[in-house]
Amino acid sequence: LWLVDKNVDNLKSYPQITQPADKLQKNEVIAFPTETVYGLGANAQSDEAVQKIFKAKGRPSDNPLIVHIASIEQLQDIAAVIPEKAKELMNHFWPGPLTIIFEKKPNVLSDLVTAGLQTVGIRMPDHPVALSLISASGLPIAAPSANTSGKPSPTTAGHVHDDLNGKIAGIVDGGPTGVGVESTVIDCTENIPVIFRPGGITREEIESVIGPVTQDAALKQTSAAPKSPGMKYTHYAPKAPLVLIKGDQAFLQQLVNEKRAVGMKVAVLAAKEHVQAYDADWIMSPGSLADLKTVAAGLYDTLRAFDELDVDFILSESFPDAGIGEAIMNRLVKAAGHQIISE
Ligand code: TXA
Ligand code: MG
Repeated sequence: LWLVDKNVDNLKSYPQITQPADKLQKNEVIAFPTETVYGLGANAQSDEAVQKIFKAKGRPSDNPLIVHIASIEQLQDIAAVIPEKAKELMNHFWPGPLTIIFEKKPNVLSDLVTAGLQTVGIRMPDHPVALSLISASGLPIAAPSANTSGKPSPTTAGHVHDDLNGKIAGIVDGGPTGVGVESTVIDCTENIPVIFRPGGITREEIESVIGPVTQDAALKQTSAAPKSPGMKYTHYAPKAPLVLIKGDQAFLQQLVNEKRAVGMKVAVLAAKEHVQAYDADWIMSPGSLADLKTVAAGLYDTLRAFDELDVDFILSESFPDAGIGEAIMNRLVKAAGHQIISE
């Protein structure tokens, strides 16, 4: 474990960065903070290194990894074509929580990174620790979220430790991440770009820069086959069953009462504004409706906290499905395994 203060100058020369960078060069895997969630990084050019990521996470090998870079030169080494709309997005949102899918150059990355696809997802994270670690290593860094596959993504070094201690070469602890949900994934290989995963940069923000984009059909309908392989897997689920409720507080309370009447211990996930409205065994809140960014920032910590409780059933409120709310609702639907009860 390397503890880093992300606010100090010239991070690149600190041993807390040079030591993990050295591990990356030796094809070891290291967890590190980004502005979204902690990533599990390894040398994207090495089969041996990338294999270790899949093994530590227990991740299916057909789910490709995002490549993290610290400079535009690194992008030019990897992407075969850089479309105009991608350039505009990079200018506006990099470094930041936006992953752009490009056609890849052959023979630059390990094929394991892209799971056999001809495209590669690339992003430049907006976090001083991530950027200095990547540039100190001098490598493109493949990094999925640093959780055990299926669990909520980690927003603290403690979450990473809970999942992966003993399975990786180390953790760089830069404190809690800020955004709290993963990057938005957008495919810019088509003339009209397609959002594969809603995330830290909203659709509205993207459209204000490049005009209309579409969304992968699988994001809205549960039947269509997703184009982004990761979207088909169960994710973010607490151990106890979680059901997403579309209805008002009285409707949700009635469902709590029904579960308690048959002897179940019930937890509610609710907006800060509503915690007083419920009578349940536990009421947990990720953040406030007045600022949905706080909900995104606290969401995974709340989902993980349910596993510390002796809870039988979890009922979650819905959140407004616009802006950062699109990413929040996308993750809650997945945490619920698509179990939704509407009023
Ligand atoms: O915020 C984030 O993006 C975090 C931090 C660590 O950077 N990373 C992250 O990685 O969330 P991961 O592996 O958990 O999610 C990557 C997503 C998956 O849904 C994957 O299917 C998709 O990106 N993806 C990656 N490469 C792709 C490609 N070439 N085509 C389509 N989807 C791709
Ligand atoms: Mg993930």
